[in-house]
Amino acid sequence: MKLSVPGRVTGAAVIAVAALLTTSAIADAAPARAAAAPDIPVANVKAHLTQLQSIATANGGNRAHGRAGYKASLDYVKAKLDAAGFTTTIQQFTASSRVGYNLIADWPGGDANQVVMAGSHLDSVTSGAGINDNGSGSAALLEAALTVSRTQYQPTKHLRFAWWGAEELGMVGSRNYVNGLTTANRAKISGYLNFDMIGSPNPGYFVYDDDPAIEKTLKDFYAGIGVATEIETEGDGRSDHAPFKSAGIPVGGVFTGASSTKSAAQAAKWGGTAGQSFDRCYHSSCDTTSNINDTALNRNSDALAYAVWELSD
Ligand code: TRP
Ligand code: ZN
Repeated sequence: MKLSVPGRVTGAAVIAVAALLTTSAIADAAPARAAAAPDIPVANVKAHLTQLQSIATANGGNRAHGRAGYKASLDYVKAKLDAAGFTTTIQQFTASSRVGYNLIADWPGGDANQVVMAGSHLDSVTSGAGINDNGSGSAALLEAALTVSRTQYQPTKHLRFAWWGAEELGMVGSRNYVNGLTTANRAKISGYLNFDMIGSPNPGYFVYDDDPAIEKTLKDFYAGIGVATEIETEGDGRSDHAPFKSAGIPVGGVFTGASSTKSAAQAAKWGGTAGQSFDRCYHSSCDTTSNINDTALNRNSDALAYAVWELSD
């Protein structure tokens, strides 16, 4: 859904600059305009969530590591990416005596020595379908990747998307991926963006404060739509960006909150209910398609795309 996002340079800013500079100075100073980030259709993101819910329902109510619902989720995402022209790779590992998988999708082209990665964990806990945690990030990431293909985006840098397995067992899939990188390949990753729980029903708007440049990019998006953000503090290092950060790779991401309680001040600026968790269904059976705030999902899907486009251009 279209949000009122001004471009990086607003009309007012251009006029202000024009008043101070000569025409030729403006032309000289103007940076190459980045490709505009697309609007991600939230209806498409929600359609993916409906499919993930159906997969859980058909497979004992969850999409957990080592269960049929996880593999079916992986197959769903992979089929969409393959049809869209991505080069997909399944990375297999074992955790808690069960087989797990990461799905890696490379968009052909771009500088192989500058890789921008974005990832989300695709597994749920065993107690529920995991639609906010983390169907939300997985579905937004999938739709952003499909938008890369629809628009035939050809960024300067190379784009790689990842859906991680066994995050709920302690970030096993993403750690496996990072540990499997050679030193040279690790150095080629210019940044990793993480999306875990981005449509919480009583949402907050939290931005990871790990890497200043990535943090600024995500905050710029939110400033552009006039939504206040806070630094993410609900358990730093509790998602798949942690192994990347430990390996010295710049990381960032957004998050709408889990079991922590929304304060009165937060409810005043974001709406929702003070004194209640950001996600009352965190890790429980009510984490279904009803457990999503559409506005938060829409904003964060667009934030994801904004960061991917801006950082890869
Ligand atoms: N990763 C946790 C989960 O999947 C949720 C979580 C807690 C989280 N703190 C976070 C996600 C901070 C991202 C950022 O259950
Ligand atoms: Zn999660």
